[in-house]
Amino acid sequence: MDTSQPLLQPITVGSLNLKNRVWMAPMTRSRAANPENKVFELHEEYYRQRASAGLIISEGSQVSPQAVGYINTPGIYSAAQTEAWKGVAKAVHEADGHIFIQLWHVGRMSHPDFHGGELPVSASATNPNSKSFTPNGFKDTVTARAMTLEEIKQTIEDFKNAAKNAVEAGFDGVEIHSSNGYLFHQFFNTSSNHRTDEYGGSMENRARLLFEVIDAIKEVMPENRIGLRLNPSLHGVFGMTLDKDTIPTFDYIINRLNDYDLAYLHLSEPFTDVSEVPFAEQNIAKRYRPIYKGTLVINSAFDQKSGNEVIEAGLADAVAFGKPFISNPDLPERIAENADWAEWDQNTFYTPGEKGYTDYKRLEEAKVG
Ligand SMILES: Cc1cc2nc3c(=O)[nH]c(=O)nc-3n(C[C@H](O)[C@H](O)[C@H](O)COP(=O)(O)O)c2cc1C
Repeated sequence: MDTSQPLLQPITVGSLNLKNRVWMAPMTRSRAANPENKVFELHEEYYRQRASAGLIISEGSQVSPQAVGYINTPGIYSAAQTEAWKGVAKAVHEADGHIFIQLWHVGRMSHPDFHGGELPVSASATNPNSKSFTPNGFKDTVTARAMTLEEIKQTIEDFKNAAKNAVEAGFDGVEIHSSNGYLFHQFFNTSSNHRTDEYGGSMENRARLLFEVIDAIKEVMPENRIGLRLNPSLHGVFGMTLDKDTIPTFDYIINRLNDYDLAYLHLSEPFTDVSEVPFAEQNIAKRYRPIYKGTLVINSAFDQKSGNEVIEAGLADAVAFGKPFISNPDLPERIAENADWAEWDQNTFYTPGEKGYTDYKRLEEAKVG
C-alpha cells in the first residue's frame, strides 16, 4: 500500500471532509427507466461500488423536460425522480462516500423528437451541426429556437427547483453543468450567442445566466455545496469552436467566481488536440490555478502518474477521473496498491442493463479470477 501519494491525501471541501482527491467525473450512462426518467436499484449498485472516490459527481441530470437531449438520462425535476435518487444518495453514504448530482440542460444539443416535434432551445437560433441520440436513433441536430426572456427566467427557476430536490434526495451538493457545449456554454460563446438583450454581447451579459443560476441555487443550499464545471478550450465537438473572445470570457467568469465560496471549480483540459487552433489555451490548469482561489478540480485523460503530478505541482487540488472509474470501481484502492487499471468497453457506455455497468470487478475479485 502506498498511501503517501498526493491523490490519496484527504481534502476538506467546504464543510465536507473527503477521504481522497480521486474524484469520479460525471458520466451519462443512459440506463434510467422511461417514461419517467428515474434511476433505480441498478444505479444504487453502480454508485455504491464507486463510493471509495473522494467525491462522486453523478451523471448529468436534467432540470426540466426541456433540458433533455439524450435517451434514458435521469431527471431531477419531479417528485418521483427525487424519490428515486434518494436510494442512490443513501447507498453512497452507507458505503462511506460523498456524492454531488450534476444539474444539466443541454440547450440546442437536443432534437424535436424529445419535445413533441417542437424545436429545442438555446441562446440563439443556431445549429451545433452535431448528432442527437434520440429515442429513434442518432439524428442530425436542427437549428434551435432562441429562448425568450420568460423562458430564461423559468430555466433559472428550474435549476433552483432541481437543487432543492437534490437536497431533499440527500445529495451532498450539486455541480452545475456549465461545460461541454451545453446550455451555459452556448450562452458564453459568441458563435452560439447572437442575442442583443442583457444575455448577449458583452462577456458580462453572456455569463449572466450562469451567475443568476448560482444566485438562485444559493437560496436553497449553502454556497459551499455548489460546484461548477467549465471546459474553456473545447473545440470541434458538441458544436463548439474557439474564437478570440472565448478565453477572455472564461477568464472573466473564473475571476468572478472568486466572489463566491463555492465547493469547487471543475475544469477540463481540451478534449481534442488544440495545438494548432488559434485562440486556444492548451494548459488549462496552468492558466487558471493562479486565477482561481478556491478548490480546483482538473479532468481529462489523467492517469495515476499525471494525476499525482498535477497535485504535487500545485496546479489542482483534486483530479476527476471519468472512463477509468467505469472499468475500475475501486480506483482509489488500485492507486494505493499501484495495481494495473482495467480497460473500459466503449460499446457498453450507453447500453441498458448491468453489462459494462455494474459487472466490472474489484481488484481482489479480479485477482481470484
Ligand atoms: C460515457 C461518458 C459519459 C459522459 N457524460 C458526461 C456527463 O454527463 N456530464 C459531463 O460533464 N461530462 C460527461 N462526460 C465527460 C467526462 O466527465 C470526462 O470529462 C471525460 O470522460 C474525460 O475524462 P477521462 O479522460 O478521465 O475519461 C462523459 C464521458 C463519458 C466517457
